Amino acid sequence: MRLLENLKIEPHTRVILRTDYNVSVVNGKVEDDFRIEASLKTIEYLLAKKAKIIIMSHMGRPRGRDKSLSLKPVADHLETLLNKKILFFADVETAQHSIEDMKPGDIAMLENLRFFPGEEASDKRFANELSKLGDVYVDDAFAVAHRKHTSVFLLPRLLPPAAGFLIQKEVNVLDEIRVAQKPPVVFILGGAKVETKVKIFIKLIHKIDAICIGGLLANSILMTKGIAIGKSNYEDIAQYVDGMDLTDTRLHLPLDVVVSKDPSGKSPARITAVASVKADEMILDAGPDTIKLFSKIIRTAGTVVWNGPLGVFEIEKFSKGTRDLAKELKNTKARVVVGGGDIVRAIHKVGAEKSIYYQSTGGGAMLEYLAEGKLPALDVLK
Ligand code: 3PG
Repeated sequence: MRLLENLKIEPHTRVILRTDYNVSVVNGKVEDDFRIEASLKTIEYLLAKKAKIIIMSHMGRPRGRDKSLSLKPVADHLETLLNKKILFFADVETAQHSIEDMKPGDIAMLENLRFFPGEEASDKRFANELSKLGDVYVDDAFAVAHRKHTSVFLLPRLLPPAAGFLIQKEVNVLDEIRVAQKPPVVFILGGAKVETKVKIFIKLIHKIDAICIGGLLANSILMTKGIAIGKSNYEDIAQYVDGMDLTDTRLHLPLDVVVSKDPSGKSPARITAVASVKADEMILDAGPDTIKLFSKIIRTAGTVVWNGPLGVFEIEKFSKGTRDLAKELKNTKARVVVGGGDIVRAIHKVGAEKSIYYQSTGGGAMLEYLAEGKLPALDVLK
């Protein structure tokens, strides 16, 4: 990959910096700024070079302009972290006009890229419009490097590109884990984004020793296997089933689950065998027998990779499965690699942080890089 240190940056150079600031915002405030913190080293380097920095990121999966997914709270948060004014451009046209007035060392942020239809559509015209905002392109958006979206896949072909310090660090550490993998290798997959994880599952299953599955992915697989899951959320993965051997003994699904009539935590909950979920119930967490089984598997692991909680982690009542498994990490000598904020929060809650070897900013991107050793948006930086 071409590296930021080798990119010619002078005072006045307009640098497009693609970051992944897809963070959770609650009541207009950034809730967890791990991904923002992780980008500071690159920003500070560019500031020291007196570049004009134009930050671009996406947030969430909006359909059109959705105020609740504006990047403005992120710009405000970055302003506090850097103690420096961040200009904010609501659209590309405004950015094109206002950029002329930026001075060396100024920072601007463009509104959520996914508000513009061209971003997810791999659109050459949109790439062209974005390219007018910069002289060079720096990518630090590791967490979205598994997507072929315009700003990470087409834009770097239009300007001299380079990998920022965060991407460099992610690739170095994850390469080390891939190369010097300590067996048995165990993956724990939970959370949402089922389609991304099914694709990873298909690529991974033959390369590793065990996959423990919870969350929406487990619901979707159970549903495919014809097991009743009541009114639980799931995604239709029928199109992938041909590529999946659901009887593979390395695949571990929940044995028992915590169910309730609604996910708010206000209705009573009960623990039940996975095959006995009633029609009006939802699966909201993994049950104790499941955690016992998953714990046994990770206790003897050499490498554990964990992405996504096993239940509705944000509701205390349904976070026990994830927390109890996180506690188990204290009893393993495995190298533990995690991606995603929920797991890190669970690990901190139970005081098992010393057991984390590496915390990636990527979820799907981390899993795909570990599975494949390459990602589309990294290839174009070569
Ligand atoms: C992530 O949070 O995993 C990245 O920002 C990618 O988001 P996406 O799955 O919506 O493309």
